[in-house]
Amino acid sequence: MNKGLFITFEGADGCGKTTQLMLIAKYLKEHGTDVLVTREPGAKGLGEKLREILLNYEGEVSSQAEAFLFLADRAQHMDVIIKPSVAAGKVVLCDRHTDSTVAYQGYGRGIDISRINMLNDIATGGRKPDLTIVFDVDVETSLARVGKEKDRMENAGMEFFNRVRNGYLQIAKQEPERVKVIDATQSIEAIHIQVIKLINLSR
Ligand code: TYD
Repeated sequence: MNKGLFITFEGADGCGKTTQLMLIAKYLKEHGTDVLVTREPGAKGLGEKLREILLNYEGEVSSQAEAFLFLADRAQHMDVIIKPSVAAGKVVLCDRHTDSTVAYQGYGRGIDISRINMLNDIATGGRKPDLTIVFDVDVETSLARVGKEKDRMENAGMEFFNRVRNGYLQIAKQEPERVKVIDATQSIEAIHIQVIKLINLSR
């Protein structure tokens, strides 16, 4: 059986990670790899309900409650979808995971990072991604890409997204083996080639 792999795609809203995830999924499938594409928040089932609240609920949501909702989604996703798929030998490509909570709820909202790390550890049972790719782009570019139709998170403003971006760069500094940063202002094709290289190196 093939070795399963767990790869996460991270970056601020509008960084282009989802486009790259779809391109690499197609590439890997064409090369005979058994791939599972998934995302947080809200892969399926319970997760879809949590996603609806997280992105569209219009009442007040405290930062702590928001963090726990993302973490509830993660615990379910990890146990029901990610771990069994990796164990079955699939390459799991996940759009956002633990580092999103560190960057958004930790650096962005200001919740203590060591607490977020502890909660992430509980939600995942300590299973970290084998590879994480951060798509780094300046905030002006990413927010322009998101456009006018913003969801609850995307309405958080420029300062917030600067903190999120800086958060991702800090995470990459602290865990250089796992977390690789790609300059996401480059062309889609140039970025795709770098993603292929990183994934091939991790196999
Ligand atoms: P989504 O529409 O999936 O955006 P994107 O295409 O940018 O991934 O929305 C997910 C939003 O939730 C995004 O703004 C980031 C945010 N988020 C957190 O704040 N914390 C988390 O732990 C996760 C997984 C996502």
